[in-house]
Amino acid sequence: MTVPRSSELIRRRAARLSSLLGIEHAIVGGPMAGVNTPELAAAVSNAGGLGSIGCGMMSAEQIEAAIGRIRELTGRPFAVNLFVTPQPAADEAQILRMQAKLARYRAELGLPRGKIPSTFAPDFAAQFDAVLGARVPVFSFTFGALDAPRLEALHAQGAKVIGTATCVQEAVQLAGLGCDAVVASGIEAGGHRATFAVPAEAAQVGLFALLPQALAAVDVPLIAAGGVMTAEQIAAALLLGASGVQLGSALLRSPECGASEAYKAALAGLADTGTRLTRAFSGRWARGAVNRFMQEIDSAGDIPDYPIQNRLTQDLRAAANAQGKAEYVSLWAGQAAGLATGEPAGAIVRRLQRELEELL
Ligand SMILES: Cc1cc2nc3c(=O)[nH]c(=O)nc-3n(C[C@H](O)[C@H](O)[C@H](O)COP(=O)(O)O)c2cc1C
Repeated sequence: MTVPRSSELIRRRAARLSSLLGIEHAIVGGPMAGVNTPELAAAVSNAGGLGSIGCGMMSAEQIEAAIGRIRELTGRPFAVNLFVTPQPAADEAQILRMQAKLARYRAELGLPRGKIPSTFAPDFAAQFDAVLGARVPVFSFTFGALDAPRLEALHAQGAKVIGTATCVQEAVQLAGLGCDAVVASGIEAGGHRATFAVPAEAAQVGLFALLPQALAAVDVPLIAAGGVMTAEQIAAALLLGASGVQLGSALLRSPECGASEAYKAALAGLADTGTRLTRAFSGRWARGAVNRFMQEIDSAGDIPDYPIQNRLTQDLRAAANAQGKAEYVSLWAGQAAGLATGEPAGAIVRRLQRELEELL
């Protein structure tokens, strides 16, 4: 029997990413700041994929502890992910206007009226130094382009570096910088848009359109992200030019994921039309399941930029999660999140790989 050329192509592309990262299967468990756990990352790595821990919201100490815990749980490669983004100057009048809008949600959740925060995001330099000090096998980043000295410092340690792009121009910039691989994130993807080089409205490229164009423009392996939930989609993404996939929503309902029960319940049976892009929770465009907070704050407008809005809604979202009130939680989810199962993360990775092998 002759092996179809498409199977060969898919295997060759997958092998390129697997050998680069020292993993068995070309499946990355996507970083998911706020809900990912060391247990989730380790489960994906132990199943032969690349587990990630999104540390964008963590302090340097929390990052060190999370990496230490992953290392207790797995001896295999894993990725640590940070947000690379400028910090805009805070407009105090706009913050006060937003706090006035948030007051009634805070009251409903039993929270006191918000104060003007002294800082809006963890210190990136300290976060990065914690990652560098831990000598991690893979570093990934989103929201921007890492500076060359930091990228070189990672390479000097032997770490592999992965950037995130939402259009060809960003993929070219990240590859030119020296990234070893680039996540090609389609508009379908759950969570924040990675967009940094073009206006957000311009970077709405679907994964099906993005992959072949990015493939033609860069030489580094591409990792397809956005709505990938099935083995058929993995095969299609690899056929279209990716060397691997990054799962996000597929892992959200797994027992290792730290999303609250209210969050996980909101994803069950979510329709393809059940998510939207919003700035309501963080001030940066992100895709999540539609809920009351998203609709009301988006239509009220005048939302401070990331990370200011993110900080202003932080304790409100945490209280809503604790109280099981999904109407006020940022329910980040991709356009196919309704297909997520409650299987353990390792079982998901192994099943997808097995089904992919059967297809090939
Ligand atoms: C809850 C959540 C949090 C996320 N946080 C991050 C993050 O911290 N860093 C990052 O690079 N990507 C983050 N992402 C994107 C995922 O890693 C992944 O690329 C995306 O979810 C893929 O789309 P899908 O959800 O449709 O599978 C997040 C996604 C979700 C759903």
